[in-house]
Amino acid sequence: MTSNEIRRSFLEFFQKNGHRVVPSAPLVPGDDPTLLFTNAGMNQFKDLFLGREKRDYTRATTSQKVMRVSGKHNDLDNVGPSLRHHTFFEMLGNFSFGDYFKAEAIEFAWTMLTEVWKMPADRLVVSVFKGEHGIPRDTEAYDIWRKFVPAERIMELGSEDNFWQMGDTGPCGRCSEIYYVRGTGMDPEIEVWNNVFMEFERSADGTLAPLPAPSIDTGMGLERITAVLQRKDSNYDTDLFMPLLTRIGELAGATYGANPQTDISMRVVADHARATTFLIADGVIPSNEWRGYVLRKIMRRAMRHGKMLGLGEPFLHEMVAVLAREMGDAYPELRTNRD
Ligand code: SER
Repeated sequence: MTSNEIRRSFLEFFQKNGHRVVPSAPLVPGDDPTLLFTNAGMNQFKDLFLGREKRDYTRATTSQKVMRVSGKHNDLDNVGPSLRHHTFFEMLGNFSFGDYFKAEAIEFAWTMLTEVWKMPADRLVVSVFKGEHGIPRDTEAYDIWRKFVPAERIMELGSEDNFWQMGDTGPCGRCSEIYYVRGTGMDPEIEVWNNVFMEFERSADGTLAPLPAPSIDTGMGLERITAVLQRKDSNYDTDLFMPLLTRIGELAGATYGANPQTDISMRVVADHARATTFLIADGVIPSNEWRGYVLRKIMRRAMRHGKMLGLGEPFLHEMVAVLAREMGDAYPELRTNRD
């Protein structure tokens, strides 16, 4: 399956199961001063979780544009050496706003992975919250998972892994992650999906208050699931990145995969070109402050790595054509805002 088919099949599965397909929110969050950039699929639904807003649907599914370059979720320094981190990525998600809860969310995830995408069940390992900092073990999630996987494939982990919150304040809850065991490469086990059981709102003094209704927020990196489904050990070997790496190689006279050092620079350029293109398409302009400063930093980093590859002329703009061609069906703003 191509990445475009994978994205589509995810949204279609949840649509068939009563979810509204909601377009990705822009990378610049509307009126949320707690966020520099959209950092999770749930951001655009924050007020629904908190019970401050109602819409004409209680189930939604999205493919959300996400940036993780600051604050609580920051992957900038991993980009280059890592085969599975990005500044910009797409997060596939399904959401329930006081509708279904743990049992249905876990069953949906299991069906999507093992029946729709036919991933081998014996390669999947899951985790649940073990109980920590006064928040009890997630016995309910454990018991539900036992219907699908044997006990030795359920890990019990602490808050670091299995309690999710979008920032220092806001909706949050215990979560359950799903890992795929490749057994090979730099990441022999890779987390592909996070199911958050939203139950609390954290306030600025750190206390947790119950949400009006238990809810579901899930997130799966399209880049990682594409690598798994395309049987690659690296996100960069998938059809989401290879067209960019090929174009960079043409410009720099280099071949991706031929030299570990140039590979790092090529990955930085590919990743940062995506971030740059999607940010500018959403109206961010390089500047000295706030969002524009982060964009400028990313662009300068891409240019520095381009120089290391021997690129003496401007090259970043060359990546826009590749992205508009490959991803413009899913994100029309790449074409309409291309100039
Ligand atoms: N909000 C959670 C995450 O970003 C699940 O979608 O991982």
